[in-house]
Amino acid sequence: MSDEDVFADLMASLDTPMSVVTTAAGDERAGCLIGFQAQSSITPARFVVWLSKANHTYRVAMHAEHLAVHFLTADDVDLAELFGTLSGDQVDKFARCGWRPGPSGVPVLDRCPHHVVMARHVVLDDGGDHVCLVGRLVEVAGAGRFTPLRLAAVAHLEAGHEVEERPRPPTERAES
Ligand SMILES: Cc1cc2nc3c(=O)[nH]c(=O)nc-3n(C[C@H](O)[C@H](O)[C@H](O)COP(=O)(O)O)c2cc1C
Repeated sequence: MSDEDVFADLMASLDTPMSVVTTAAGDERAGCLIGFQAQSSITPARFVVWLSKANHTYRVAMHAEHLAVHFLTADDVDLAELFGTLSGDQVDKFARCGWRPGPSGVPVLDRCPHHVVMARHVVLDDGGDHVCLVGRLVEVAGAGRFTPLRLAAVAHLEAGHEVEERPRPPTERAES
């Protein structure tokens, strides 16, 4: 077995919980399914997500003040499919689900009682294919303990963007 396969097995065994992260900049809203997420500090409370450089959500997040992280429950496979298999580059996901505007317009999904809203605090690009966004918590909402939707239940979904995709042309100059 290659190191790559062993690593993939290790990560699959962790069976990480899944979330939908949303954000907004001006009138543009974005959101995608994520598995890369964690609490990253106790005091002060911090939360961290990693966004793929391929995603519409990443591009909007770079101009946004806030991100909302919605912790999916075992009943939310359809939401995972909406946000994980389609791209805001082609469709308006927010026309297909209920939401309300939170701080600086960040969409808060009606279906998700368990969520946090965080203010973008630190962005770390270590050269990998995902960028790390650390947030200061500005809102927290929960409705008691719940059973999270886990990777194993959605691992069959085909992501809206392959991780190596980048918008082309990368600059207006390259187009001319
Ligand atoms: C099981 C699964 C896990 C995913 N995890 C992440 C993740 O941690 N971070 C991320 O940026 N994208 C992740 N994605 C990919 C995006 O959710 C997907 O490409 C989405 O369609 C991008 O939408 P957007 O272009 O509107 O941002 C995951 C997709 C799936 C199916």
